[in-house]
Amino acid sequence: MKHTQITAIFTVFILQLLVQGPSAQFSDGHEHNLQNIHARTTQSLDGLWSIIVDPLENGFYNARWQPRENGFFKDQKMSTPSELIEYNFDTDEQLMVPGDWNTQKEKLYYYEGTIWYRKIFDIDTIDDSEYFIHFGAVNNEAIIYLNGEKVGSHVGGYTSFSVKVTDSIREKNNVLVLKVDTKRKEDGIPTINTDWWNYGGITRSVHVVQIPKQHVYDYYLYLDPETKSQIKGWVQLGNSKEKDKVALRIPELNIDHEIYVDENGFAEFTINATPKTWSPSDPKRYEVLFDYMGTQLKDDIGFRIITTSGSQILLNGEPIFLKGISIHEEAPFKTGRVTSIEQVRVLLQWAKELGCNYVRLAHYPHNEDMVREAERMGLMVWSEIPVYWTVQFDNNETYANAEHQLEEMIARDKNRASVVLWSIANETPIGDSRLEFLANLAAKARALDSTRLITAALDPDGTSSREGKNFIDDPLGEHLDVIGINYYCGWYGGTPESCRTIEWDTKYDKPMIMSEFGGGALQGLHGEENERWTEEYQSAVYRNNIEMLKNIEFLAGTSPWILMDFRSHRRHLRRIQSDFNRKGLISEQGVKKESFYIMQEYYNSIEY
Ligand code: GCU
Repeated sequence: MKHTQITAIFTVFILQLLVQGPSAQFSDGHEHNLQNIHARTTQSLDGLWSIIVDPLENGFYNARWQPRENGFFKDQKMSTPSELIEYNFDTDEQLMVPGDWNTQKEKLYYYEGTIWYRKIFDIDTIDDSEYFIHFGAVNNEAIIYLNGEKVGSHVGGYTSFSVKVTDSIREKNNVLVLKVDTKRKEDGIPTINTDWWNYGGITRSVHVVQIPKQHVYDYYLYLDPETKSQIKGWVQLGNSKEKDKVALRIPELNIDHEIYVDENGFAEFTINATPKTWSPSDPKRYEVLFDYMGTQLKDDIGFRIITTSGSQILLNGEPIFLKGISIHEEAPFKTGRVTSIEQVRVLLQWAKELGCNYVRLAHYPHNEDMVREAERMGLMVWSEIPVYWTVQFDNNETYANAEHQLEEMIARDKNRASVVLWSIANETPIGDSRLEFLANLAAKARALDSTRLITAALDPDGTSSREGKNFIDDPLGEHLDVIGINYYCGWYGGTPESCRTIEWDTKYDKPMIMSEFGGGALQGLHGEENERWTEEYQSAVYRNNIEMLKNIEFLAGTSPWILMDFRSHRRHLRRIQSDFNRKGLISEQGVKKESFYIMQEYYNSIEY
């Protein structure tokens, strides 16, 4: 992202606030996006938080539906025996953070609405540092209060954000309160209908982050796709002065590069270097150190180049077939949102066992551990914002929300070599406003990050028929580098056997990824191949679709739907689905179905 773009974006943002006011559709100007917090000084706020379930939002609005001065965020206590206060966090219930509320309490299983969270904490020292509170994710709309005052707000259930609290944090008895609202909204991102459970809550970890007054705020490093022998990027300081020096060191490459920032604390750099490139077979990362004003910020960064040539995807200049699997952020065994790195490792290890070199993290940015562990384990990542199905493409606030979540997704993972594809949508219905909405998102993604490929998973409705073949001509294809197609032959249409002879053609000289295919089976249910929900039926779907894939000469990868059964409000069939989408190759209890081994055999038969 060029400096001019930063200034431009910042200017636009300020103008938006001036013009639109803090319409708070997604943030109100307090918001920050501090990155790489695990390399900084943090204090975890994970654990039990007190909660108040508030379906009518009494804690925020009075009886005339006006915002209250003394809402639940004041955490009031009776000052006289007769005072009327109709809430008390101390005597109410508790929830674990991180974690969704739906799987923590039976009575919250279906709950979609507001829950207030409160955490009281001390911090070791107050000095002239800057203090932030960082949230891995809160689903879906959050208002954040510290010691009775609003310090920020955020919309988007799957991206990290932070609020600056330097002016309001104290050493003892900090009262942090969040209003968390998971109501689904037609103008939301995602919109009101999705095929995954609306797990609400503070679903990822929370930390107090203490950084030096003068600090490295953010940075971006990448191997220049043009020269292949230069590391380029930028660094952004906080509270710096013009011409302050920051040293960028990569010891293993004998790099010790002095950078002098401008009046905004920003500087770009280009360093001659020929690092060993990151790849699934050799996921090499380098220790990168930024030294500024006596403090050091460290990261482990891999360098690779991802491009396309005609219908091929090239990793470091060599064609590669993306042997993938789609994954929802559903925890194995316990179910609910993933809340630990152990669960991350189980999911990614299953992907490796399947023979994958790529994972499609559907349909929203997963937790940061998922992306960092994929980088460590040698798995390429398709990362996606939840512009899913029928969002309101003609609504400017909806677009601003989608764009903000795109910015946050890229801001968090821009330095992760594993991420090779930014996906801007999934199965969106063809239409002029949808095309404009997504074309703008694609342009925005490229403006933020020119080094990765832009994609989207297209609905088969966007495919025509020509000379008896499925013909890919969705107009969105013009704006994508890689075209994802979701196609459920043998499940949502046709018999499994009918799939093997289906042929494809495309209007675009671009790589195609079959981003979804497959079918459902209840693990352990056996019968004839024509019996829906048996493992035998699912196996027939896989065997015949694999034959179809072999005949698509412009196919550059696939990520069948899906690694593991996952919870969804749309899957009602008792005794078979029981609120679970059964298209997993593995049950949520970790038992592999026959089709796992069919897919594994296919991947093991592919050379590169
Ligand atoms: C769609 C969609 C998925 C959904 C799947 C299904 O392709 O992208 O989110 O779960 O089909 O119907 O199981």
